[in-house]
Amino acid sequence: MALRTIQSADLSGKTILVRVDFNVPIKEGVVGDDTRIRAALPTLEHLLAQKGSRLVLMSHLGRPKGGADPAFSLAPVAARLAELIGRPVQQASDVIGDAVEKELDGLESGAILMLENVRFYKEETANDPGFAEKLAKLGDVYVNDAFGSAHRAHASTEGIAKFLPSYAGFLLEKEVRFFQPVVTNPDKPFVAVIGGAKVSSKIGVLETLLPNCSALIIGGGMAYTFLKVMGHTVGSSLLEEDYLDTAKSLIDQAKEKGVELLLPLDHIVASEFSENAKPEAVDSLDIPDGKMGMDIGPKTVAKFKEVIGGAKTVLWNGPMGVFEFDNFAGGTLEVAKAIAECQGTSIVGGGDSVAAANKFQLSERMSHVSTGGGASLEFLEGKVLPGIAALEE
Ligand code: 3PG
Repeated sequence: MALRTIQSADLSGKTILVRVDFNVPIKEGVVGDDTRIRAALPTLEHLLAQKGSRLVLMSHLGRPKGGADPAFSLAPVAARLAELIGRPVQQASDVIGDAVEKELDGLESGAILMLENVRFYKEETANDPGFAEKLAKLGDVYVNDAFGSAHRAHASTEGIAKFLPSYAGFLLEKEVRFFQPVVTNPDKPFVAVIGGAKVSSKIGVLETLLPNCSALIIGGGMAYTFLKVMGHTVGSSLLEEDYLDTAKSLIDQAKEKGVELLLPLDHIVASEFSENAKPEAVDSLDIPDGKMGMDIGPKTVAKFKEVIGGAKTVLWNGPMGVFEFDNFAGGTLEVAKAIAECQGTSIVGGGDSVAAANKFQLSERMSHVSTGGGASLEFLEGKVLPGIAALEE
């Protein structure tokens, strides 16, 4: 996939409309985790370094019900960005309209204007062409660096590209550079480490990755559905009865394609799902009645580590156990360490595994940690992301 890039574009003297994904947690008017803002800095700095350029930033924040709502204002984000980028960031009073145009008229070169939450207009999520055109009028060119929103065909992520010369920012390009080979032609051995609570939410990912895998590691809550269909007892562990056939078909596919499928060999269990539950080791594939699997056991950790250690590419999506509870975080921690230590390319794709890598302070040691949750999942399901398709050469 070849994208039009900002490196190859002549952006000097331009007003550049940049879609970023600054959908970040905000508590009492202050940004919490600012990873997504930091991740956009290389693009913003590059664009500001173009002689005579000005930046107009667009983002959504949360899911406001429609209409302007101060609880969803991007003002705290503009303040945090100003601190990180070391220059003022002017917060616009609206997204489109006369007031914004006036604010834009007064914007000097080298300055940044942050539009209000694009979702204050229902036309944004409806991908309304008239709204996209109004947004497009606020700039000369469009840059999309919002990988986290690339799975949304919204006015500011897709529709707008029909009205302006459009380019991918560095973050979006980087995400595609790491994810694309995983779903097409990864460096082998390629090991996919898939976890999380439910088989149902990962079927698309498993089916897309399986044909390319050298080994497929399955841990977390979803592993018990696989173990059950293989004839093991799972006690009161998470079980998706409706997905037993799916699990069986994935096991058969792996066999057919010569993919090594690894499931837990032993477990850490508890009598109840609670932070203070007592962890108990079960040195067997079978979990006794009344006990629920909460984490993978030491034999499993050793086997998973061995396989990960030999990989040239590792993709990690989903924790190995209830890592949010310290008593049951050990398996996820050890697997995360093995991924960070592996000599090959390590990619952490989305959601809970990113939270786990951050909790264990291992993110810096991974080759790539995605800024997309839903977007990375859809990419790994082999879907075309509309925000990216709009930037293809
Ligand atoms: C995300 O946090 O996954 C993105 O910002 C997309 O948000 P959305 O699911 O509300 O579209």
